[in-house]
Amino acid sequence: MMRRLGILLSGRGSNFEAIADHIDRNELDAQIAVVISNVSQAPGLEKARQRGLEATFIGSKGLPREEFDRRLVASLEERQVDLVCLAGFMRLLSPYFIKSFPHRILNIHPSLLPSFPGLNAQRQALEYGVKYTGCTVHFVDESLDSGPIILQAVVPVLDTDTEETLSARILAEEHKIYSKAIRLVLDNQIRVDGRHVVEVAANPGH
Ligand code: GAR
Repeated sequence: MMRRLGILLSGRGSNFEAIADHIDRNELDAQIAVVISNVSQAPGLEKARQRGLEATFIGSKGLPREEFDRRLVASLEERQVDLVCLAGFMRLLSPYFIKSFPHRILNIHPSLLPSFPGLNAQRQALEYGVKYTGCTVHFVDESLDSGPIILQAVVPVLDTDTEETLSARILAEEHKIYSKAIRLVLDNQIRVDGRHVVEVAANPGH
């Protein structure tokens, strides 16, 4: 059965597009069941519609966090989503949401976690003066940018970098490792052991 992804985004949606491109090129065996945004004007929603995908806005204004999350979960369950991918989704999820998809929620973050969690990770790295930064795909738990790490890519920081140039080079890596991590999870090629995500040998018999 084709595995179904639910994508949550709040903005541009380039990570969503990269995932959709991997699927279109048959490099990722899955389908995008729905794209949901908490921002009605998110460019990512429009990009999804242009690709013929279902794209939905769920407003959070005035709603308690858990009520919003209940609506999100209901929408994802209705589409029988197997894996939830946060792709620039700028909201912390409630324990209710996390418990609804155990080890079935992924996030991408533009730094080598646990360095520089939260907003403006690329700017934080530049200001700190690190020589290397990068991006991380991790399982989502109840804290910010803190769940077990699936994949990371390293990006050198150049003396000449601005926030824009550094962000662009990190983004190019994000677009590669997110689909790779999704494939590892969908194909059951990893096992989560506490904080450790361990690759397991593929078992062609199963
Ligand atoms: C990406 O750089 C992603 O890593 C970051 O937001 C950007 C979204 O871009 N996410 C976070 O900072 C989450 N803490 P996109 O909308 O073009 O995919």
